[in-house]
Amino acid sequence: MLLCFFLTCLSFLLFIKSLPLKPLPLWAYEMRLLPHWFWKELSFFPIYKVIKNSLCTYLFSIPSRMSLKKKYLSKIENVEENSEMSVLDLPELVLEGILERLPPGALCSMAGVCSSLRERCISDRLWEKHIQRKWGKVIGQAAYREWQWYLASRAGASNLKQNKQKSIIRLLSFGWSLSWIRSKANDNNTQRNSLPVDSIMSWYLALETGRFWFPAQVYNRENGHVGFMLSCYDAKLCYDPHTDTFQARYPPHGRRAIAIENGVQWERLRAPPIDTPPHDLHISDCLNELCPGDHIEIQWRKNKEFPYGWWYGVVGHLETCDGNATHCRCHYSETVVLEFNQYTPGSRWRLAAINRKDHREEGNEIDGFYGGIRKLCSDQEISMWKQLWPTDILE
Ligand SMILES: *[C@@H]1O[C@H](CO)[C@@H](O)[C@H](O)[C@H]1NC(C)=O
Ligand SMILES: *[C@@H]1O[C@H](CO)[C@@H](O)[C@H](O)[C@H]1NC(C)=O
Repeated sequence: MLLCFFLTCLSFLLFIKSLPLKPLPLWAYEMRLLPHWFWKELSFFPIYKVIKNSLCTYLFSIPSRMSLKKKYLSKIENVEENSEMSVLDLPELVLEGILERLPPGALCSMAGVCSSLRERCISDRLWEKHIQRKWGKVIGQAAYREWQWYLASRAGASNLKQNKQKSIIRLLSFGWSLSWIRSKANDNNTQRNSLPVDSIMSWYLALETGRFWFPAQVYNRENGHVGFMLSCYDAKLCYDPHTDTFQARYPPHGRRAIAIENGVQWERLRAPPIDTPPHDLHISDCLNELCPGDHIEIQWRKNKEFPYGWWYGVVGHLETCDGNATHCRCHYSETVVLEFNQYTPGSRWRLAAINRKDHREEGNEIDGFYGGIRKLCSDQEISMWKQLWPTDILE
């Protein structure tokens, strides 16, 4: 098996050496600007290293246009003369197998090699996997919509096909699990040397190079500012490939200007779990089932002009209940007590009570306003909040 793979790669390298040279499209250069760590993924497998090195030396030595043409012609003659086997003669499955194992950087380089490889390397099917692996946890429906607006705002994007958008939205709502195959045969937008703007690869590159600001949520905003401990706020984010962190811009709080935070780590980001914009009240659908001990997130804002953040808490027992499970009746009561145990007992932030039957936004200018509630069902979400637990109890 390994021998077979090695032979495949060898013939692939031979093929690369015999390829006609062509100017690279713009995005291939862009990819090269990415820092070295991006290529590190390659060194996983010694064979990738070989491919990487040969591709790099090949790609970095582009001769002038005049000699290109000559070479191109003589290469064609050569190919006809010695009729060597090329990578494109490989069985389809083997070639697909090689491409599927290539990391993003190598796929980009490969796509610059010839038009036939290009067609394959930019295929959405390959890039879906990469975008899902690297960006799946922080990219949600809102980010996808934003990307569509970004495309639509660019010239020539007006003839994006309606049904194509629908199928991506469907794909997102199935958590990317469906494989989405589309034919490019009739796509008049696809010019020979430009990457189709609506391709997944183009989206990947826009994220990866920090060209595209996307909406997501940040835990403990403003770098653990005590006022935001155990909360999660909406922000616009831009990736910085040099530091592998993000810049976050939080929407203005009333008259307070946009807050900016640099160096936000991957672990502090999440895709918004529900599709409620930061200024809208989430309609709680879990009120009737809340019992003591449940983990929740509740929308909270200081002032009605401010965006909501999501705050972590647990459902507690009523004052009249001693917490003994055998006679606890708290879950029959109309009042639900919410505990924010990160605050010291007696703090005005530690307890809040809401009405199970007709909960809307509740509160006042002093204690802030409590909005919609979502019950946390996944252990992963709960353990994320526990990891963020402050070392000191808050006043
Ligand atoms: C695509 O281009 C071909 C010729 O270049 C043209 O005949 C055809 O009508 C175009 N199709 C669309 C959908 O624009
Ligand atoms: C809960 O109440 C029952 C019955 O009243 C009692 O037997 C039990 O010891 C109590 N449990 C705790 C933990 O207090």
